[in-house]
Amino acid sequence: MLSNPSQVILRNSEFVENEDVLIINYESDTLAQQLLESANSVTALALDFNHHLALSPLASDKLDCYFGHQLPQQLSNKQFDTVIIYFPKAKALAPYLLHLAAQHLNGDGQVIVVGENKGGIKSLPKLMPSFFAKPLKRDNARHCILYSAPLVEMPTQLDINQWVSQYSLSTPKGEVVICNVVGTFSEKQLDMGTQLLLAHLPMLSGRVLDFGCGAGVISAALLRENPQLQVECIDINAMALLSCQLTLAANGLEAKVYASDGFKQIDGQFDAIISNPPFHDGLQATTQIAQDFVQHSAQQLRSNGIWQIVANRHLPYAQLIEDNFGTFDVPAENNKYKLYACHK
Ligand SMILES: C[S@@+](CC[C@H](N)C(=O)[O-])C[C@H]1O[C@@H](n2cnc3c(N)ncnc32)[C@H](O)[C@@H]1O
Repeated sequence: MLSNPSQVILRNSEFVENEDVLIINYESDTLAQQLLESANSVTALALDFNHHLALSPLASDKLDCYFGHQLPQQLSNKQFDTVIIYFPKAKALAPYLLHLAAQHLNGDGQVIVVGENKGGIKSLPKLMPSFFAKPLKRDNARHCILYSAPLVEMPTQLDINQWVSQYSLSTPKGEVVICNVVGTFSEKQLDMGTQLLLAHLPMLSGRVLDFGCGAGVISAALLRENPQLQVECIDINAMALLSCQLTLAANGLEAKVYASDGFKQIDGQFDAIISNPPFHDGLQATTQIAQDFVQHSAQQLRSNGIWQIVANRHLPYAQLIEDNFGTFDVPAENNKYKLYACHK
């Protein structure tokens, strides 16, 4: 089943007839493969690891699949006839993706941008960098718009450092610098929920999981307090993983940072799991993520392990935690957020 934006791309596949195509920020479906009925080759870059996991088993000599904030180093100069961008959920990410697209276009190439009306696609013309012509609306269907724009001048060299912002965070053991690549959760400042969690961090030891690490705020605070911890930072999002690596490096801290979709890529048991867990899947809020998170946490926490999270207080964590852990404490709460803590 194709997503609405993918269906709109497919019904406009004449735009990519016999072309070498790059798809950036592709979704969890098989559009990239289906496009091969028109295109000469397709290279797909996923920013979400679950989208990569869904497509990569279909890779072939005409379909290349990658996960990351950009194509791998050996393809950094590869040029395509058309680049298709799925308009990102985080609107701030759109100019970065457009710059990345321009970097990979032939001189007479074009970008196609598709997105859902509710995802903000209508703002594309205002976000378009000057190295593209004014975008033309080519289709409007399935609650989506598809724009195209030819490249009109060569872009400046894309430098990821120009897409990173920083802020400073006070911890009991001193300041830490938080680095945020554009499009990362809570990019400009500390999230209020995370702030409540950091103010009530338990004393930890051993192997610790920072689930949905984002820019690595929680890990940086934990490691500044106790550099002996063996921290593992996982996230599904490429911009988050890069931000987390930059945050650790900026503070001289060490942790293992890797992509995981939920607990799928996480092995073994932990002495502690600390998180401000996700509750969105695409543009939808869902309780399924919370359910899977609590269930797998209970399975992968060692006996005597510590589990502590912050969540928006309207989310149904209490019941989920009781079902999987038995009892829990609430070390702190305010009118918006609640901390839940369990010992196994
Ligand atoms: C609420 S944010 C918290 C980020 C960071 N820990 C903080 O406190 O600022 C949740 C994070 O979970 C990540 N995420 C969303 N779905 C995920 C999944 N299925 N598996 C792993 N991480 C996920 C998001 O990319 C996001 O960075």
